[in-house]
Amino acid sequence: MLERPTRQALPKKLFVKTYGCQMNMYDSERMSEMLAAVGYEAVQAPDDADLVVLNTCHIREKAAEKVYSEVGRLRALKRRRPDMLIAVAGCVAQAEGGEVMRRAPSVDIVVGPQAYHRLPEMLARAERARGGAGIVDVDFRPEAKFDELPVPERPAGPSAFLTIQEGCDKFCTFCVVPYTRGAEYSRPAAAVIAEAKQLAKRGAREIVLLGQNVNAWRGEGPEGRDWTLARLIRALAEVEGVDRLRYTTSHPRDMSDDLIEAHGAVPALMPFLHLPVQAGSDRVLERMNRKHRASDYRRIVERLRAARPDIALASDFIVGFPGESDRDFEQTMKLVRDVGYAQAYSFKFSARPGTPAAADPLQVPEAAKGERLACLQELLNSQQRTFNRSCVGKRVPVLFERPGRRRGQLVGRSPYMQAVHAEAGPARIGDLAEVEIMAAGPNSLSGGSPAI
Ligand code: SAH
Ligand code: SF4
Ligand code: F3S
Repeated sequence: MLERPTRQALPKKLFVKTYGCQMNMYDSERMSEMLAAVGYEAVQAPDDADLVVLNTCHIREKAAEKVYSEVGRLRALKRRRPDMLIAVAGCVAQAEGGEVMRRAPSVDIVVGPQAYHRLPEMLARAERARGGAGIVDVDFRPEAKFDELPVPERPAGPSAFLTIQEGCDKFCTFCVVPYTRGAEYSRPAAAVIAEAKQLAKRGAREIVLLGQNVNAWRGEGPEGRDWTLARLIRALAEVEGVDRLRYTTSHPRDMSDDLIEAHGAVPALMPFLHLPVQAGSDRVLERMNRKHRASDYRRIVERLRAARPDIALASDFIVGFPGESDRDFEQTMKLVRDVGYAQAYSFKFSARPGTPAAADPLQVPEAAKGERLACLQELLNSQQRTFNRSCVGKRVPVLFERPGRRRGQLVGRSPYMQAVHAEAGPARIGDLAEVEIMAAGPNSLSGGSPAI
């Protein structure tokens, strides 16, 4: 009797969409790697995906609402392809839990940022329960997650993220992160070093250490003693193949002496630091529970510049925090003028459910928030343009990461995180080479051919 040919199981298709911060980008990469191991192949569009993962952000109202409009669009696809599964991951999943499914019944799985290592098992359950009750896992044990994630084997890009710390104990009065990501947790130094070695072996030359409060990292060192982030950075700078290190995002309160010193002492540590200050008025900083004054921040900046004179700074700002007066806002403008930023993000205060600032009776009217934001952004944009223009005529080392829009063009990063477009073929992706900067735009630089 003839045997019937067995059909090779086709890889299933996975589409991941990432919102929010770099931590979510790292998590999305890890989820894709993990799902690749159980037969899912990543695709660039949701149309014929078997599984769509929305890795969501809850930080501001606009960010959180995006997920519901995206699920709305996916619902139409799902009507045509009822086998498609939709998973909502990340901070909206953590904050809203089962509520996500009540608002969006086409969602099959809700998985928090500390539970996604269990996705394969949840998928198997969801496939069995198709059309039935959804599956929710918002358990909170980051150590379990890191221990259980598989070791990836795919090549890494020239610049790779490495999460070393998660969660936040600071409780700024406007912020949801302590609730969505839980208490501060630092991965042990040995695990971080092992992952860095492995990333370098897979082709990464730059490692960006990630954490909600990355400079609060305190880990057990290989010899059992406690390590600080500065000590970890020194150890990572020794890893073969690691030419560049960065860390983000830092809190001014944890900018310790040894970390400031490391900026002067470790050449691999790039001269660019994202150090959010949020506001320039002590009254507002106090109401935000930032636990430092504007003068403390100015002093940190001075010391960083003394340690590493060419360091460039970035920050986040919130305008229209409850109780912020015109005078308070003027102090933010003054701080920005005094410090001088290479780059910054600025936001209107968004009242987030459950945070103390949301219940504050002194909410600032929307119109005033809008005016302040426009005013601040005009200043920040002009500082960014000035900084970019100051690079014209200089030779800067660029790490090439990806093809540019035009053929024969590559895009890389300068030490100061600027995107640099240069004339070079794809064979040079992964190269670190000097480029002469010829022109500066608001958001990027352009240069000639890189030196060999
Ligand atoms: N851990 C980092 C930032 C995390 S959130 C830190 O402490 O700086 C990223 C940025 O989003 C914050 O720096 C802040 O500027 C902004 N943000 C957070 N909550 C916000 C809110 N409720 N409204 C507007 N902006 C907010
Ligand atoms: Fe949010 Fe403040 Fe923690 Fe940053 S330090 S994550 S702004 S609570
Ligand atoms: Fe957003 Fe969560 Fe990051 S709320 S900013 S995705 S930690």
